[in-house]
Amino acid sequence: MSRPAKSTLSGIDGRPFVDLEPLLDLGDLESLDDEICVGLTQVTPEYTGGCHRSMGIMPPVFAREPWADYGEVIAAMDDDAFVVFVSLSDDPGAIDLSNRESYTFGEERAVPLSRRQMKYLEYKYGVYFPWKVYLELMPGGRWVDKADPRGKAFTRDAMLYFPRTVAFVQSLPFEQIGSVKLLGLSSNDHGTVHRDRDPAEGEPDEFVTFCPTGEKRLFLWDDGAAEKVFAPSRAYWFNDGDYHGVEAAPAFRYSIRVDGRFTSDFRAKVRR
Ligand SMILES: [Fe+2]
Repeated sequence: MSRPAKSTLSGIDGRPFVDLEPLLDLGDLESLDDEICVGLTQVTPEYTGGCHRSMGIMPPVFAREPWADYGEVIAAMDDDAFVVFVSLSDDPGAIDLSNRESYTFGEERAVPLSRRQMKYLEYKYGVYFPWKVYLELMPGGRWVDKADPRGKAFTRDAMLYFPRTVAFVQSLPFEQIGSVKLLGLSSNDHGTVHRDRDPAEGEPDEFVTFCPTGEKRLFLWDDGAAEKVFAPSRAYWFNDGDYHGVEAAPAFRYSIRVDGRFTSDFRAKVRR
Protein backbone atom coordinates (compact mmCIF):
# COMPACT_ATOMS: atom_id res chain seq x y z
CA MET A 1 0.00 0.00 0.00
CA SER A 2 1.53 3.36 -1.00
CA ARG A 3 1.42 6.11 1.58
CA PRO A 4 0.47 9.77 1.01
CA ALA A 5 3.33 12.23 0.60
CA LYS A 6 2.50 13.93 3.91
CA SER A 7 2.35 10.67 5.85
CA THR A 8 3.91 10.71 9.31
CA LEU A 9 3.36 7.01 10.00
CA SER A 10 6.47 5.16 11.11
CA GLY A 11 5.12 1.79 9.98
CA ILE A 12 7.11 -1.40 9.69
CA ASP A 13 9.54 -1.59 6.78
CA GLY A 14 7.53 1.05 4.95
CA ARG A 15 4.15 -0.59 5.52
CA PRO A 16 1.44 0.77 7.85
CA PHE A 17 0.33 -2.78 8.73
CA VAL A 18 1.90 -6.17 8.23
CA ASP A 19 -0.94 -8.49 7.18
CA LEU A 20 -0.22 -11.77 8.98
CA GLU A 21 -3.21 -13.67 7.67
CA PRO A 22 -1.29 -15.23 4.75
CA LEU A 23 1.51 -16.30 7.08
CA LEU A 24 -0.47 -17.97 9.87
CA ASP A 25 -2.73 -21.01 10.05
CA LEU A 26 -6.06 -19.39 10.87
CA GLY A 27 -8.29 -22.34 9.95
CA ASP A 28 -9.75 -22.56 13.47
CA LEU A 29 -9.72 -18.84 14.23
CA GLU A 30 -13.39 -18.13 13.64
CA SER A 31 -14.46 -21.04 15.86
CA LEU A 32 -12.56 -19.54 18.82
CA ASP A 33 -15.32 -16.94 19.02
CA ASP A 34 -17.71 -19.55 20.48
CA GLU A 35 -15.29 -20.35 23.31
CA ILE A 36 -14.39 -16.72 23.93
CA CYS A 37 -17.97 -15.44 24.14
CA VAL A 38 -18.94 -18.20 26.62
CA GLY A 39 -15.67 -17.75 28.53
CA LEU A 40 -16.24 -14.02 28.95
CA THR A 41 -19.47 -14.78 30.82
CA GLN A 42 -17.50 -16.87 33.34
CA VAL A 43 -14.86 -14.30 34.31
CA THR A 44 -14.79 -10.71 35.57
CA PRO A 45 -13.13 -8.48 32.98
CA GLU A 46 -11.78 -5.05 33.91
CA TYR A 47 -12.03 -1.71 32.14
CA THR A 48 -9.00 -0.18 30.50
CA GLY A 49 -8.14 3.10 28.79
CA GLY A 50 -9.77 6.24 30.13
CA CYS A 51 -6.58 8.21 30.70
CA HIS A 52 -4.87 8.57 27.31
CA ARG A 53 -5.12 12.36 27.28
CA SER A 54 -3.61 12.80 30.74
CA MET A 55 -0.88 10.33 29.76
CA GLY A 56 0.00 12.68 26.88
CA ILE A 57 -0.21 9.94 24.25
CA MET A 58 -3.01 11.35 22.04
CA PRO A 59 -2.47 13.47 18.93
CA PRO A 60 -3.68 17.06 19.45
CA VAL A 61 -6.56 16.72 16.98
CA PHE A 62 -8.11 13.90 19.07
CA ALA A 63 -7.04 15.23 22.46
CA ARG A 64 -9.65 17.96 21.95
CA GLU A 65 -12.44 15.37 22.25
CA PRO A 66 -14.85 16.02 25.14
CA TRP A 67 -14.73 12.59 26.82
CA ALA A 68 -13.68 12.78 30.49
CA ASP A 69 -10.22 11.44 31.37
CA TYR A 70 -9.75 10.01 34.86
CA GLY A 71 -6.26 11.45 35.31
CA GLU A 72 -7.73 14.92 34.92
CA VAL A 73 -10.78 14.08 37.05
CA ILE A 74 -8.73 12.78 39.99
CA ALA A 75 -6.37 15.78 39.84
CA ALA A 76 -9.37 18.14 40.02
CA MET A 77 -11.06 16.44 43.03
CA ASP A 78 -11.28 18.48 46.21
CA ASP A 79 -10.19 16.77 49.42
CA ASP A 80 -13.69 15.57 50.33
CA ALA A 81 -14.22 14.01 46.92
CA PHE A 82 -10.77 12.43 47.13
CA VAL A 83 -11.69 10.75 50.44
CA VAL A 84 -14.71 9.10 48.78
CA PHE A 85 -12.58 8.03 45.81
CA VAL A 86 -9.91 6.47 48.06
CA SER A 87 -12.54 4.71 50.19
CA LEU A 88 -13.44 2.67 47.10
CA SER A 89 -9.91 1.39 46.52
CA ASP A 90 -8.93 -2.20 47.32
CA ASP A 91 -6.70 -1.00 50.16
CA PRO A 92 -7.87 2.42 51.38
CA GLY A 93 -5.58 2.29 54.43
CA ALA A 94 -2.51 2.30 52.19
CA ILE A 95 -3.18 5.87 51.05
CA ASP A 96 -2.06 8.74 53.32
CA LEU A 97 -4.82 11.28 52.72
CA SER A 98 -2.67 14.13 54.01
CA ASN A 99 -0.13 13.48 51.28
CA ARG A 100 -2.25 12.86 48.17
CA GLU A 101 0.22 14.61 45.83
CA SER A 102 2.65 11.73 46.29
CA TYR A 103 0.31 9.19 44.64
CA THR A 104 -0.54 8.51 41.02
CA PHE A 105 -3.50 6.33 40.11
CA GLY A 106 -4.43 4.01 37.27
CA GLU A 107 -2.85 2.37 34.28
CA GLU A 108 0.95 2.47 34.32
CA ARG A 109 0.79 4.52 37.52
CA ALA A 110 1.84 3.66 41.07
CA VAL A 111 -1.61 2.69 42.45
CA PRO A 112 -3.95 0.67 40.21
CA LEU A 113 -7.63 1.60 40.18
CA SER A 114 -9.98 -0.89 41.79
CA ARG A 115 -12.99 -2.05 39.83
CA ARG A 116 -15.20 -0.03 42.21
CA GLN A 117 -13.16 3.10 41.57
CA MET A 118 -13.48 2.65 37.81
CA LYS A 119 -17.24 2.30 38.11
CA TYR A 120 -17.43 5.31 40.41
CA LEU A 121 -15.35 7.43 38.05
CA GLU A 122 -17.72 6.40 35.26
CA TYR A 123 -20.96 6.97 37.20
CA LYS A 124 -20.09 10.08 39.18
CA TYR A 125 -17.69 11.89 36.85
CA GLY A 126 -18.64 10.54 33.43
CA VAL A 127 -15.18 9.14 32.74
CA TYR A 128 -15.12 7.32 29.42
CA PHE A 129 -13.45 3.91 29.54
CA PRO A 130 -13.23 2.78 25.90
CA TRP A 131 -12.36 -0.87 26.53
CA LYS A 132 -15.04 -2.11 28.91
CA VAL A 133 -14.04 -5.74 28.51
CA TYR A 134 -10.34 -6.12 29.28
CA LEU A 135 -9.02 -9.52 30.25
CA GLU A 136 -5.39 -10.47 30.70
CA LEU A 137 -5.11 -14.14 29.73
CA MET A 138 -1.42 -13.81 30.57
CA PRO A 139 -0.76 -10.71 32.72
CA GLY A 140 2.04 -8.70 31.21
CA GLY A 141 3.06 -6.51 34.15
CA ARG A 142 4.29 -3.05 33.27
CA TRP A 143 3.99 -2.04 29.62
CA VAL A 144 7.76 -2.08 29.17
CA ASP A 145 7.87 -5.70 30.37
CA LYS A 146 5.12 -7.03 28.12
CA ALA A 147 7.44 -9.08 25.89
CA ASP A 148 9.48 -10.48 28.77
CA PRO A 149 8.40 -14.07 29.61
CA ARG A 150 10.03 -14.15 33.05
CA GLY A 151 7.48 -14.83 35.77
CA LYS A 152 4.62 -14.88 33.25
CA ALA A 153 1.99 -17.58 32.83
CA PHE A 154 -1.54 -18.01 31.57
CA THR A 155 -4.03 -17.37 34.35
CA ARG A 156 -6.14 -20.13 35.87
CA ASP A 157 -9.21 -18.57 34.23
CA ALA A 158 -7.47 -18.60 30.85
CA MET A 159 -6.62 -22.30 31.18
CA LEU A 160 -10.09 -23.18 32.46
CA TYR A 161 -12.37 -21.14 30.21
CA PHE A 162 -10.26 -20.38 27.13
CA PRO A 163 -8.22 -23.58 26.51
CA ARG A 164 -8.52 -23.55 22.70
CA THR A 165 -7.62 -19.87 22.60
CA VAL A 166 -4.58 -20.57 24.78
CA ALA A 167 -3.57 -23.42 22.43
CA PHE A 168 -3.97 -21.10 19.44
CA VAL A 169 -1.76 -18.47 21.09
CA GLN A 170 0.84 -21.13 21.86
CA SER A 171 0.80 -22.14 18.18
CA LEU A 172 1.79 -18.62 17.06
CA PRO A 173 5.38 -18.16 15.85
CA PHE A 174 6.82 -16.70 19.04
CA GLU A 175 10.07 -17.73 20.65
CA GLN A 176 8.71 -16.33 23.90
CA ILE A 177 5.46 -14.71 25.06
CA GLY A 178 5.15 -12.11 27.82
CA SER A 179 1.58 -10.86 27.62
CA VAL A 180 -1.82 -11.89 26.21
CA LYS A 181 -4.69 -9.42 26.47
CA LEU A 182 -8.26 -9.48 25.25
CA LEU A 183 -9.50 -5.98 24.41
CA GLY A 184 -13.24 -5.63 23.88
CA LEU A 185 -15.44 -2.62 23.21
CA SER A 186 -19.15 -2.30 23.91
CA SER A 187 -21.59 -1.27 21.22
CA ASN A 188 -21.24 2.37 20.14
CA ASP A 189 -17.93 2.85 21.98
CA HIS A 190 -14.78 3.85 20.15
CA GLY A 191 -11.16 3.27 21.14
CA THR A 192 -9.47 6.62 21.79
CA VAL A 193 -6.66 7.42 19.38
CA HIS A 194 -3.28 7.11 21.10
CA ARG A 195 0.13 5.59 20.68
CA ASP A 196 1.75 3.04 22.95
CA ARG A 197 5.30 4.38 22.81
CA ASP A 198 7.47 7.07 21.27
CA PRO A 199 8.26 5.95 17.72
CA ALA A 200 11.79 7.32 18.11
CA GLU A 201 12.45 4.63 20.74
CA GLY A 202 14.07 1.90 18.70
CA GLU A 203 12.58 -1.00 16.81
CA PRO A 204 8.81 -1.69 16.81
CA ASP A 205 7.53 -4.00 19.55
CA GLU A 206 6.80 -7.48 18.22
CA PHE A 207 3.21 -8.61 18.65
CA VAL A 208 0.29 -10.25 16.89
CA THR A 209 -3.26 -8.93 17.07
CA PHE A 210 -5.99 -11.34 16.03
CA CYS A 211 -9.70 -10.82 15.75
CA PRO A 212 -11.68 -14.08 15.35
CA THR A 213 -14.77 -12.40 13.91
CA GLY A 214 -12.88 -9.76 11.93
CA GLU A 215 -15.36 -7.18 13.17
CA LYS A 216 -13.12 -4.91 15.24
CA ARG A 217 -12.03 -2.04 13.01
CA LEU A 218 -8.70 -0.87 14.35
CA PHE A 219 -7.11 1.94 12.41
CA LEU A 220 -3.86 3.85 12.37
CA TRP A 221 -4.20 7.61 12.47
CA ASP A 222 -1.82 9.19 9.98
CA ASP A 223 -1.46 12.60 11.61
CA GLY A 224 0.50 14.12 8.70
CA ALA A 225 -1.98 13.03 6.04
CA ALA A 226 -4.95 13.46 8.44
CA GLU A 227 -6.46 10.11 7.51
CA LYS A 228 -7.25 6.70 8.95
CA VAL A 229 -5.65 3.52 7.63
CA PHE A 230 -7.68 0.45 8.60
CA ALA A 231 -6.32 -2.94 9.65
CA PRO A 232 -6.20 -5.26 6.66
CA SER A 233 -7.43 -8.59 8.00
CA ARG A 234 -8.13 -10.77 11.04
CA ALA A 235 -4.44 -11.00 12.03
CA TYR A 236 -1.89 -8.25 11.76
CA TRP A 237 1.08 -6.42 13.26
CA PHE A 238 1.72 -2.69 13.27
CA ASN A 239 4.10 -0.19 14.77
CA ASP A 240 2.44 0.76 18.05
CA GLY A 241 4.48 3.96 18.06
CA ASP A 242 1.98 5.06 15.40
CA TYR A 243 -1.27 6.57 16.63
CA HIS A 244 -4.09 4.03 16.57
CA GLY A 245 -7.72 3.79 17.60
CA VAL A 246 -10.84 1.70 17.11
CA GLU A 247 -13.82 2.81 15.05
CA ALA A 248 -17.20 2.91 16.81
CA ALA A 249 -19.58 0.11 15.80
CA PRO A 250 -23.13 -0.98 16.61
CA ALA A 251 -22.11 -4.18 18.43
CA PHE A 252 -19.60 -5.61 20.91
CA ARG A 253 -16.31 -6.71 19.32
CA TYR A 254 -12.86 -7.66 20.54
CA SER A 255 -9.38 -8.66 19.58
CA ILE A 256 -6.51 -10.37 21.37
CA ARG A 257 -3.00 -8.94 21.44
CA VAL A 258 -0.05 -11.27 22.04
CA ASP A 259 3.31 -9.65 22.85
CA GLY A 260 6.62 -11.42 22.87
CA ARG A 261 9.55 -12.13 20.63
CA PHE A 262 9.01 -13.65 17.18
CA THR A 263 10.97 -16.72 16.13
CA SER A 264 13.84 -15.75 13.87
CA ASP A 265 12.22 -17.65 10.97
CA PHE A 266 9.00 -15.71 11.33
CA ARG A 267 10.82 -12.40 11.71
CA ALA A 268 12.69 -13.12 8.49
CA LYS A 269 9.39 -13.82 6.74
CA VAL A 270 7.64 -10.64 7.87
CA ARG A 271 10.53 -8.17 7.75
CA ARG A 272 11.90 -6.87 4.50
FE1 LIG B 1 -2.59 0.94 22.02
